Amino acid sequence: MPTDSTAAPLRLLVLGGTGFVSGAVAAEAVARGHDVTCVARGTGGTPPPEGARLLRADRNAPEGLAPLRGTRFDAVVETATLSLPWVQRALRDVSAGHWTFISSISVYADTYTRGQTARTARLRPALPDAASYDPAHDPEPSQATYGGVKLACEQAIREATGDAAFVVRPGLIVGPGDDIGPFGYWPLRMARGRATAVPPAAGADGLALPAQCVDARDLAAWIVEQAAARASGVYDAAGPPVTLDALLHEVADAVGHGSLELVPVPEDILRGAGVREWTGRPSMPLWPPRELHGALARDVTSSFEAGLRARPVAETARAVLRDRLGRGAGTPPVAGLTPVEEASLLRLAGA
Ligand SMILES: NC(=O)c1ccc[n+]([C@@H]2O[C@H](COP(=O)([O-])OP(=O)(O)OC[C@H]3O[C@@H](n4cnc5c(N)ncnc54)[C@H](OP(=O)(O)O)[C@@H]3O)[C@@H](O)[C@H]2O)c1
Repeated sequence: MPTDSTAAPLRLLVLGGTGFVSGAVAAEAVARGHDVTCVARGTGGTPPPEGARLLRADRNAPEGLAPLRGTRFDAVVETATLSLPWVQRALRDVSAGHWTFISSISVYADTYTRGQTARTARLRPALPDAASYDPAHDPEPSQATYGGVKLACEQAIREATGDAAFVVRPGLIVGPGDDIGPFGYWPLRMARGRATAVPPAAGADGLALPAQCVDARDLAAWIVEQAAARASGVYDAAGPPVTLDALLHEVADAVGHGSLELVPVPEDILRGAGVREWTGRPSMPLWPPRELHGALARDVTSSFEAGLRARPVAETARAVLRDRLGRGAGTPPVAGLTPVEEASLLRLAGA
């Protein structure tokens, strides 16, 4: 792993650090020799990476971050998922020379049109009274709510820092440690080999279905490097746009064996069998609903110009497979098909 050897070590605060994405940021920062403090309740079962210290705090408590008052950090990475009050209190209680905020692609108003850029895409309208939104009472927020709260958090941080913050808007984040995303189904399924039901290559409009994701470790490396460089700006955080068909073949080539054969199942068969798009059970993971075609085909040229690097999907697939197998059966998969459901679809598809 590269080290930021040219820069002095940062005194870095990661608000989070025990979860999938925030844990990757903390791990990357530790590996690069930075002095890392994580803030979390520490109840999720995943410790912060070795070498980082954990300050236990509950951010739902208005004074949860009070122990940080009076300590100066070089940089802070705010990973608050969905709470404007968390962000406002962090801005009040944390003193830092640089801020990064992990936002979301859900801030954009138009998720249908392909090829949009962070500079020109229209944003959602602000959510009225975002500060009173409480995720505890709304476990499955709409995209409008999720995007509206994220946008309000972005605005709070940009205002407080005089637009000197680094704001990243990820789409689908994948990689080892992710237990809830739809990507993880494919490496495990394809490693089992044989005929494998996959989504059709094209949508009802005749266009190839899109896919776009970023490995959490690549996102983390970018965030830590940009914090060290005190960079500012607003960027999408996604790998290159590809077709879903190409992505699935890359996963197959990375983890599959001789017996593996990808069998596209036509859309009418999937719908007739009640198979869901994107995620859930039963589903064709990553099969994108029409309203996400634009969100999965963004022009991320400016992000790559600003230092984002994306490893091949094949590398991510192998790492996800190792991670899942290494952790055993554990939690049941959240997305995909059972072998029985898949066999029935394959029969209907004539395979
Ligand atoms: N996953 C994706 O595909 C995706 C896509 C777009 C954007 N994002 C954004 O990426 C960021 C990271 O997402 P993630 O799901 O992977 O989150 P994560 O890194 O798992 O971060 C959640 C962190 O918050 C801490 N936390 C939760 N409740 C807390 C509380 N009450 N007080 C203090 N700490 C608390 C958790 O630790 P404890 O549980 O130990 O407290 C954990 O360290 C989020 O901003 C999310 O919106 C994710």
